[in-house]
Amino acid sequence: MRLSLNEASKLLLNGHVVAVPTETVYGLAAALNQPKAIDTIFAIKRRPSGNPLIIHVPETKVIESFSRELPDRFHDLANVFWPGPLTMVLPIDTTKVPEKVRANLPTAAFRVPRHPVAHELLQRTGSLVMPSANLSGKPSATKPEHVEKDFGDHFPIVDGGGCKCGLESTIIYFNNSQWQIIRLGAIAPEQFLPILGYVPKIQINNGKAICPGQMYRHYAPNAYLRLCEKGEKLSEVVIGFSDRTYPKATRVITLGDTHNPEIVAEVLYSILRQLDQEGIMEAHVDMDFPSTGLWTTIRERLQKAANK
Ligand code: TXA
Ligand code: MG
Repeated sequence: MRLSLNEASKLLLNGHVVAVPTETVYGLAAALNQPKAIDTIFAIKRRPSGNPLIIHVPETKVIESFSRELPDRFHDLANVFWPGPLTMVLPIDTTKVPEKVRANLPTAAFRVPRHPVAHELLQRTGSLVMPSANLSGKPSATKPEHVEKDFGDHFPIVDGGGCKCGLESTIIYFNNSQWQIIRLGAIAPEQFLPILGYVPKIQINNGKAICPGQMYRHYAPNAYLRLCEKGEKLSEVVIGFSDRTYPKATRVITLGDTHNPEIVAEVLYSILRQLDQEGIMEAHVDMDFPSTGLWTTIRERLQKAANK
């Protein structure tokens, strides 16, 4: 069911859950002060209660009312990346954020999205929690049809078309006097260098993840993905690039070309979902691409998608 902004804001203020487009992926929104709607989000996504939610706010200054202290360079980062695909995990006054939103942690994650629909809704409703609008473990939704596939044709959605970034926000956390990346995302690690004077360390694979979501299975289609590094032969159904040829392939599904990681990011989840839609059970993925910039996130998402 496609909603107008007016209908969506009324539903949210009355304690309902609505799917909302952001520049990264679609979110399942509930008002921060509607505990039943927040319970509904965990239930319909089948999300473990230990995986906290991101609080989306209309503007940076709203965060001051939640925070205990704002870490070094917070305002510099906010000025450069907000509104946009950055999430910052901050120490908070725990009386201001419901326990289930933050999974009982003394911190909470915040983001000011850039998408005009999300932005307008936030102005009308105030802070909204928004996990990605997919069943836990599945690739995130980057089109309204993906949300309908996971939650049914009658699910209330504000249709904002396709999401431009196509990958979730980058999540950072200030720890041991430095910002660290605790989830790779739509902002590449190198993009922080001019603001921070260093590229934040990536802290995502050390068993005891700081970002609880990293411990769960993610982004995975039903199909088995065989990740093929440089030199390996790709055959059968190949997920590859339009500027390459794959003589042994029976079919090539292209992610775009090897010079435009932004396009690859935009289509990645659609293509993973397409495999399920078509009942494809195995695909070979061309992993011969750089390990810098946005490619870092693309590689990590494919590795997670392949990890059964
Ligand atoms: O781009 C995005 O970030 C999208 C759009 C809708 O804004 N949202 C999104 O939400 O990806 P979700 O729930 O799919 O992922 C949020 C991640 C989870 O991995 C969760 O563990 C982490 O944020 N997170 C939330 N609060 C946290 C906290 N206090 N400390 C560490 N990680 C936190
Ligand atoms: Mg998610």
